[in-house]
Amino acid sequence: MEFKKILITGGAGFIGSHLVRLFINKYPNYHIVNLDKLTYAGNLSNLHDIENKTNYEFIKGDIVDASFINQLFLEQKFDGVIHLAAESHVDRSISNPLEFVMTNVIGTVNLLNAAKANKKEDGFRFYHVSTDEVYGSLGETNMFTESTAYDPHSPYSASKASSDHFVRAYHDTYGMDIVISNCSNNYGSFHFPEKLIPLSIYNIKNNKPIPIYGKGENIRDWLWVEDHARAIDLIFHNAKKGNTYNIGGHNEWTNIDLIHLLCKIMDKKLNRAAGDSAKLITYVKDRAGHDLRYAIDSSKLQNDLGWIPTLQFEEGLEKTVDWYLNNEVWLNNVTSGDYEKYYKEQYSKR
Ligand code: NAD
Ligand code: DAU
Repeated sequence: MEFKKILITGGAGFIGSHLVRLFINKYPNYHIVNLDKLTYAGNLSNLHDIENKTNYEFIKGDIVDASFINQLFLEQKFDGVIHLAAESHVDRSISNPLEFVMTNVIGTVNLLNAAKANKKEDGFRFYHVSTDEVYGSLGETNMFTESTAYDPHSPYSASKASSDHFVRAYHDTYGMDIVISNCSNNYGSFHFPEKLIPLSIYNIKNNKPIPIYGKGENIRDWLWVEDHARAIDLIFHNAKKGNTYNIGGHNEWTNIDLIHLLCKIMDKKLNRAAGDSAKLITYVKDRAGHDLRYAIDSSKLQNDLGWIPTLQFEEGLEKTVDWYLNNEVWLNNVTSGDYEKYYKEQYSKR
């Protein structure tokens, strides 16, 4: 499929900024509109290198504001939407579920309604970017496939599951051209330091405790964020209408093993004695409803569209550490202001 004007929501966030950059550079003939509310997680400095490109436009706005969204679709006549805007952090969803219902559910339905009312007759596609957390938790064996039943546990995953269902309902009820992908844990540059990897890098750098929930035995399947962006690009352009694709790294790590590897890399990068950073590991009270294991079977994406992850985890983690150590200003900016308050609220009673 070919597009002329694409709306990317949440393009100033972690994954969104990588996707916007990929599209701006790869598709100079597309006009890319990045709509973002710039919450604590959205940051225009993530897009500093492409902000003056002629095929790029940024609009600050809230997807929860239905009349603003309708007006935007009426004026802009998008032929494609890639929807990433969301509240994305599980711990925040446990403290404030309603915010997640508003943005992730109501915001998504607002976009679907505006698209339905204003979509171009000669082709339109709505791509919803979702998470493997909608499938719930695995035991020691098996993997999530596209036909795994939904079983979300956290307010975050419940809100994403609900939005996935709404997107499919607009396909089944109104014939909208939709595609959905459900991806595992991403890592890489511009990741907000509330998530395990960037938070641990920040704390190790500052000699602060590394909080490990429970026994550190929970397993996540980690994927280099640029591999996720490449998968979204392939699916958006090539998937058949109504399809779902799982995206994952085939890269399962217990949290504690991951943190030991990260500590080893940080010791080397910071010229510390071997084992120094690992002394910061601190076991804390577990996350409520903590899913044990996620693992993605992405063979449908590999077989249909030829996608495979490119980067080995150790190499990707080292690149990530280098990025954070070389981008102190970015890190200092995002950890100033409300960050300290958030950190105290989440961790002081653990
Ligand atoms: P993020 O929290 O880094 O960024 C979210 C972006 O959405 C921010 O720029 C924020 O300002 C914007 N936003 C939030 N509320 C908004 C609103 N009401 N209106 C407009 N913009 C708003 O998130 P991320 O990690 O980049 O995740 C992006 C998407 O990918 C989310 O939908 C998430 O569920 C999904 N996802 C994330 C991962 C992951 O590992 N991070 C994995 C799978 C799927
Ligand atoms: O699986 C995809 C999901 O991955 C995305 O949909 C979410 O948006 C994204 O935030 C991520 O969710 P997780 O909850 O898996 O990521 P997080 O980095 O918060 O936690 C990863 C693991 O590390 C999880 O088992 C909880 C644990 N953890 C996390 C933090 C923040 C700790 O042990 N200590 C911590 O301080």
